[in-house]
Amino acid sequence: MTILTSSQPPASRAERLWWRDAVTYQIYIRSFADANGDGKGDVEGIRSRLPYLKKLGIDAIWITPWYPSPQIDHGYDVADYLNIEPDYGTLAQAEHLINESHENGIRVLVDIVPNHSSDLHTWFQDALKAAPESPERDRYIFRDGKGPNGDLPPNNWQAVFGGPAWERVVEADGKRGQWYLHLFAVEQPDFNWENQEVREHFADILRFWLDRGVDGFRIDVAHGMVKAAGLPDVIAPDPKAEMLAPENRPFWDQDGVHEIYREWRKILNSYPGDRMAVAEAWVSPASRIARYLRPDELANSFNFDFLSCPWEPAPFKKMIERSLEALAEIGAPSSWVLNNHDVVRSVDRFDLGLIAGRANTTLERHGDPKEFNLERGTKRARAGALLMLALPGGAYIYQGEELALPEARDIPEERLTDPRWALSEHTDRGRDGCRVPLPWKADSAGAFGFSEKDGLKPEEAWLPQSADWGIFSVENQEDDPDSTLNMYRSALKIRRAEEGLGDGPMTWIETDESVLAFARAGNFACYVNFGAPMDLPANHQVLISSGPLDGKVLPTDTAVWIRTSSE
Ligand code: NOJ
Repeated sequence: MTILTSSQPPASRAERLWWRDAVTYQIYIRSFADANGDGKGDVEGIRSRLPYLKKLGIDAIWITPWYPSPQIDHGYDVADYLNIEPDYGTLAQAEHLINESHENGIRVLVDIVPNHSSDLHTWFQDALKAAPESPERDRYIFRDGKGPNGDLPPNNWQAVFGGPAWERVVEADGKRGQWYLHLFAVEQPDFNWENQEVREHFADILRFWLDRGVDGFRIDVAHGMVKAAGLPDVIAPDPKAEMLAPENRPFWDQDGVHEIYREWRKILNSYPGDRMAVAEAWVSPASRIARYLRPDELANSFNFDFLSCPWEPAPFKKMIERSLEALAEIGAPSSWVLNNHDVVRSVDRFDLGLIAGRANTTLERHGDPKEFNLERGTKRARAGALLMLALPGGAYIYQGEELALPEARDIPEERLTDPRWALSEHTDRGRDGCRVPLPWKADSAGAFGFSEKDGLKPEEAWLPQSADWGIFSVENQEDDPDSTLNMYRSALKIRRAEEGLGDGPMTWIETDESVLAFARAGNFACYVNFGAPMDLPANHQVLISSGPLDGKVLPTDTAVWIRTSSE
């Protein structure tokens, strides 16, 4: 019998740091709720839905970047880290939201984007106007090109979104001059983290938001800020900067990033309450992720392993074991992720499978969409959710996951906005399919209730909603005891009441190899059946299941939480 635990936390949840058990709800602000009727979500929209979030039973919200931004990468191109995007509201509204969330018992995390800014950030505009080797240029990564006239990029790095990772600028004398690095879109220049001013500015940014009461930060591209000395070429047939590179790349997971996080930990610790930070570090294997979670660094890192796991028991089992073992060594809990704004939704992913070795950001990288079966995908996504919520540690839920929202497949090409689409020369539709505004009401008025403006049509939302979006709406699911929304609500309620859930040990239960089964303290067990219908153990009490049970039989693609008999 294997006992797996990600850490040795205090046995009682009340004594543990809040984030070790927390269920955090990710709000993609542009698509959550639109209070001012312009077809884009906003701060007041979030505030108006706090009762919904409270009823769902989550512990915290993470709000994707809400700063002024030209929105080339929908906020991940920040023009000013110390204010709110005018389309989304004002700083005063943001402060109000933080306070009101706290009054509702909900903690607030904001997104920090330290790897790159927008090209419209004043620092970058100053750098463009300044001369090579100037202090203004030194805040970013400018280099002379190679070749006789500097016509070739400084190295062979390719951007995550496609194309070269370098852009050449025109100097003050009108001649083509230096190149700057952008690991993402051309409009997202990478900061130079060797520069002391950059470090100090980000320390000030953290303090600015901590002073406004945020409970922590989600750190974008946390593994990317430091680049290998000398910016060496990538030695691999494909120099593309996939977020999860198949092997080490000179721009990911360099040792120097850890020094930054040790400084940030001191800042977090200088505030009252358990302020935390969660790293978006697409790093592999799990032992490398663990380095970000050392006690004097970041508290927490997303565990993205679910995102590349096909719907099969053996890979899930291996992934869970590997993750928990790696984290146990440093006493950190795992934080599971089933969905986010960068990947194909679990309803589609678990049905279509993955194309081996490829990241999971776009439908093109999954099996044949013609084979997609919504009913089967939904069953699996629901079962996957109960699996995730029963595992040791915390969990992140992405808006719409609680509605079993599928990927939107019918966004017309001319409406696609993800920079991947253009930069891949229209071969990769990108991530818009998982970012379509939420359906709150069954009727199409106000873009299915997404907008307070009743006259707003579904195709007028910033990303057009599918004609059948209302089927998945909150309104449709509200009173249906079998809806996915009510499954999440019940599961979160049980999770809160069960002392054995959240952080702490788990034990595998010996069973058929097409089933994953494990026990948690308090005679709690979770069974997930990937194969033929199976008999559940005798003398159990069902707490919740992801689909109907057939007497004592657990059907295919179904998960159940049970209380086992104590004898
Ligand atoms: C990761 C974010 O999740 C993604 O949406 C963004 O495009 C990149 N980082 C670049 O900031």
